[in-house]
Amino acid sequence: MNITDEIIKLKKEKNAVILAHCYQPVEIDEVADFVGDSFYLSRKAAETNADIIIFAGVHFMAQSAKLLNPEKKVLLPNLNSGCFMADMINVAQLRQFKSQHPNIPVVCYINSTAEVKAESDICCTSSNALEIVKSLGVPEVLFIPDTYLGKWVEHKLGNVKVTTYNGFCPTHLRIRPEDIENARKQYPNAKILTHPECHWEVCKLSDFVGSTKEIMEYAQKSDEKRFVIATEKGVADRLNRDSKLYGWGKEFILIKDNIFCQNMKWNTLEDIYNSLKNEEHEITVDGKTAQKARICVQKMLNVMMGVGV
Ligand code: 13P
Ligand code: SF4
Repeated sequence: MNITDEIIKLKKEKNAVILAHCYQPVEIDEVADFVGDSFYLSRKAAETNADIIIFAGVHFMAQSAKLLNPEKKVLLPNLNSGCFMADMINVAQLRQFKSQHPNIPVVCYINSTAEVKAESDICCTSSNALEIVKSLGVPEVLFIPDTYLGKWVEHKLGNVKVTTYNGFCPTHLRIRPEDIENARKQYPNAKILTHPECHWEVCKLSDFVGSTKEIMEYAQKSDEKRFVIATEKGVADRLNRDSKLYGWGKEFILIKDNIFCQNMKWNTLEDIYNSLKNEEHEITVDGKTAQKARICVQKMLNVMMGVGV
């Protein structure tokens, strides 16, 4: 039996579910039950009846799945899978930021630790940041840790002051405005699809800005044939695979060769197999932190389900 079949067999035996982010190595999709962006995977984590959740993604994603499933076993296949952006703010830094801007609600991007979420008012992902900020109905919010997503939200909403912490994603910041201008010249008929973790100047020059899953849906539905992908390589890989597989006749060009998140690429099929077999590496969050951080994530899900904050 090959490793893919072994994983699928073990998954059934152990009543496990595998959630995979769109930036994972593309072969992981062969064993995944759900593949998508941070918000889609949080929803799937909240809904699952499985006993074990294998999170093929990065640490903060597995931690969020654990917050929503305190009684389930949540496993991260490779412990190297951190996130540079999530590590840019800790509780002491958040408290200092809040003390500089007192009495303003804190919107916390899901790319953050449980400890930081526990000290924030509401969570958001790249696919719902606009709705979440809007739902608060306030003139100003603090937005952590991603300064670029926060400033993009401010630009799009137009009537809310978004005071941002100075975190960022090193992978997305490699995309510069001149890369967009060059792509326009090189591929004049292509649509440029961009993730909002990119610099806002990059976002402003693009044709569509959205989360990884929104980019993939846009590309699938569009009548255009050629697209430049301004986000992590995994998105372009999946789109090119699907175009071949389903005969879309579309071409997806990664804006630059080095748009690659190493944190997302640590997980291998072997790691997933070992994780499932040995039930390693379990993600846990201590009781009090978990309780407060869960409220922060649950509030986001409530807004998105239309049941209010
Ligand atoms: P989304 O999954 O919301 O598109 O965010 C991308 C990301 O940075 C994951 O780390
Ligand atoms: Fe973190 Fe950026 Fe990698 Fe996403 S792409 S996991 S934000 S470092």
